[in-house]
Amino acid sequence: MESKEQRYERLLPQVAALCDGESDLIAKMANISALLHQEFGFWWTGFYRVAPACGVIRKSSENDGLMDYSEAGRNELVLGPFQGPLACVRIGYGKGVCGTAWKERRTVVVPNVEQFPGHIACSSESRSEIVVPVFQGDEVVAVLDIDSRDLNTFDEVDVCWLERIAALLTTD
Ligand code: SME
Repeated sequence: MESKEQRYERLLPQVAALCDGESDLIAKMANISALLHQEFGFWWTGFYRVAPACGVIRKSSENDGLMDYSEAGRNELVLGPFQGPLACVRIGYGKGVCGTAWKERRTVVVPNVEQFPGHIACSSESRSEIVVPVFQGDEVVAVLDIDSRDLNTFDEVDVCWLERIAALLTTD
């Protein structure tokens, strides 16, 4: 039977081909989440993009008709292309596993979600999780989030290969 390493090794050229010559990040995210989800049978596989926070520009209640720019520039993670059950739409900086990976600019592996303080439970079925930041230059522009229904699903092998996959997304 094919090992996890062999499976990733086989997938990497496919991911590279999907990304080759395509500049649209959302289209690439859509195909990569489908590919990973189908190959590994994860519970939830998808992306959150760094995007302007909800209500950054809104009508001020005190100054009817005027716009409130006080929160201009504030970003949060916003749900992107994914495969699996419905998920929460917005996650704040430093919140949950996704917001932590964004803030700390590193891959976060959670062997048991019940033991991660602040874990955001989009689905009660999820037991372990990995979140990989997607960098564009020096900036985190998105995170790749994968949930498993089993404990201890993700290890150094997933970290290594998923980081390589995430890097392909932003390589033009
Ligand atoms: N569990 C994540 C939230 C996203 S869902 O798993 C799809 C978190 O704690 O950030």
